[in-house]
Amino acid sequence: MEKKRRDFMGLGLGLFTAAGGIGALYAMKRTWDPLPSVKAAGFTTIDLAGAQANVLTVEKWRGKPIFVLKKTADMKADDRDIVMGADRFHVSIGLCTHLGCIPAYEGEQHKFMCACHGGEFDASGHQIFGPPPSPLEIPPFKIDGTKLVLGEEGPEFKKMKDAGLIA
Ligand code: FES
Repeated sequence: MEKKRRDFMGLGLGLFTAAGGIGALYAMKRTWDPLPSVKAAGFTTIDLAGAQANVLTVEKWRGKPIFVLKKTADMKADDRDIVMGADRFHVSIGLCTHLGCIPAYEGEQHKFMCACHGGEFDASGHQIFGPPPSPLEIPPFKIDGTKLVLGEEGPEFKKMKDAGLIA
């Protein structure tokens, strides 16, 4: 009788310890997992299906402005273009590579103009005038149908990177 009672108490204590252990593991996992807001900040999906040619859209990714420009048929094609079917897009981080101001897009001239020190970039993001030392930076991206997933390195991005086109 005494042995049975001890076995029962031992089992109870074991279960109690196991439950506590599982609870502690769960609490630790919750502590280590990134917050939902952090997870959501890592990737941004932009649907390019409705984009209008020569109209700049500015999205936000990881706190930075992202330029998305659908090129018109008469704009020069560039190796840095993102090609989706028959459409070509210029996508870049919208920060001047000189000192980080946000350039404005002048649609009639097909140029990005930086008001801070007069830097200019063409519609493919190449610096064409003034102090900017390098082209507008291309963020890591993946093409998913008509969508662009920013923050993920897809094959098209890796190809650009391997070709030395990513500033
Ligand atoms: S920050 Fe753009 S030209 Fe200086």
